[in-house]
Amino acid sequence: MSSTKTQPFSIVIFGASGNLTSLKLIPALFELYHHGLLAEDFSITGISRRELSNEEFADKLFTDVKKADRCGNATQENWESFKSHIYYLSGDGNDSDTFTRLSEHLSQMAYNNGTPGNCLFYCSVKPNLFGAISANLHNSGLTKSDDPDQFRRVIIEKPFGTDLETAVALNKELKQYFTEEQLYRIDHYLGKETVQNILALRFANRMFESVWNKDNIDHIQVSVCETVDVGQRGGYYDESGAIRDMVQNHIMQLVSLVAMERPKSLSADDVRDEKVKVIEAIRPVCENNCCCSVVTGQYTSGSLDGKEITGYLETEGVASDSITETFTAFKLYVDTPTMKDVPIYIRTGKALAKKTTEICIFFKPIENPLFKKECSCNSTMNSLILRIQPNDGVSVNFFTHKTGQQCLEGRELTFYYPDFCPSPIPSAYEKLLHDALLGDQTLFIRSDETEAAWRFISPLLKSIKEKNKTPMPYAPGSFGPESSDQLMKCGGRSWKNQ
Ligand code: BG6
Repeated sequence: MSSTKTQPFSIVIFGASGNLTSLKLIPALFELYHHGLLAEDFSITGISRRELSNEEFADKLFTDVKKADRCGNATQENWESFKSHIYYLSGDGNDSDTFTRLSEHLSQMAYNNGTPGNCLFYCSVKPNLFGAISANLHNSGLTKSDDPDQFRRVIIEKPFGTDLETAVALNKELKQYFTEEQLYRIDHYLGKETVQNILALRFANRMFESVWNKDNIDHIQVSVCETVDVGQRGGYYDESGAIRDMVQNHIMQLVSLVAMERPKSLSADDVRDEKVKVIEAIRPVCENNCCCSVVTGQYTSGSLDGKEITGYLETEGVASDSITETFTAFKLYVDTPTMKDVPIYIRTGKALAKKTTEICIFFKPIENPLFKKECSCNSTMNSLILRIQPNDGVSVNFFTHKTGQQCLEGRELTFYYPDFCPSPIPSAYEKLLHDALLGDQTLFIRSDETEAAWRFISPLLKSIKEKNKTPMPYAPGSFGPESSDQLMKCGGRSWKNQ
């Protein structure tokens, strides 16, 4: 992460009473502050409908900051100095009066606290408020500054639409008020250190770059497995499902980083240009036979790690006859010269056996092998495992000669980030908030990226809906329904579950 200090700024968080603010945003800002990465002069203003004083708001935040504290920095003393930068305004994104008060408040901040008009607006609200907040910011003159050296930026949380049409409409609406350079669409997966490392690993190492193509790669697996169930989010999730919640954004981003061509430079636009090309080149998923069908699943009730799990259909906020998927798996192809015909299998789901986000690259076996069949491993393929979380790191699997015998055995070389990081790896939100304050858009989604992802996902969702496809039940603590394993078996492969 860059050690550059930000300029003085004001950050305004809409949706300040939500979990994201207290569990992710404030802890991230606190860490940045503690590490001296924020300017001396800054203010954080939370806005939500609740009536709270500055003091009450800050006290409420401290409880969560202490919970999120990874290295004991959240002492009362450290908090007191950070707290002096925190303000609260009771207001509503739909109400123009809120923005008149906000405008006065920001002028006051600029006067009192030396935050000379640099503003970052964070929309941590329901998507139906994005438009109203943007329009109100615009109408109160907050989206532009007369001084070209001052920045006005806005961070938008997902979901960016619910299908292609709504995503296009949202982009159109936002662009009435902001330029693309002011818009920071956040996908927290891009802030994860191990995700950022994909590009370094691929393009800074000849030994990987030279084999990263269809001639050498047999297939790729992208697994984002979660042990958590839907919990309190039934209402949101039932409208969304795994494909909208995880595939359209996080998994599409992982696929684009893994399959993209070498960018001309690491500038935001060069990197994003290459990512868009990948997403646009994804072949529509066919539904003609089980080998290429889209698997959908829904967890039943059961237990996981000794905890009772309420079945998805019995969850509060979920329709009792819901066919929303809590699991999905399918195979896709990226039709670029380098990746054409390399199967990329993706899967994601809730209430699964273990929490793991991994990208596994399996390389084709050696042609005409000289050595006898390996003794102790059942794969004939080398593999490279990019472990995004947990145990962030990289593993390389290869074969060695088995001592005293005429055969091979599998070996693994593993690198764990924490072993080489003097302090805990910065959280995704630390990295992304810092980048947004510095004006670096590389790890934020451009409008054409999100539209390209919907261009692939929307027809897939439509076809699932038209078929009125009932998700296959799976037990909590499993790796999803049987049909997910069938999908792999059909290609003579299996999921890497260990
Ligand atoms: C969010 C999804 O974007 O990502 C959640 O809405 C999901 O449903 C979460 O649990 C997973 O993030 P992470 O960082 O825990 O892998």
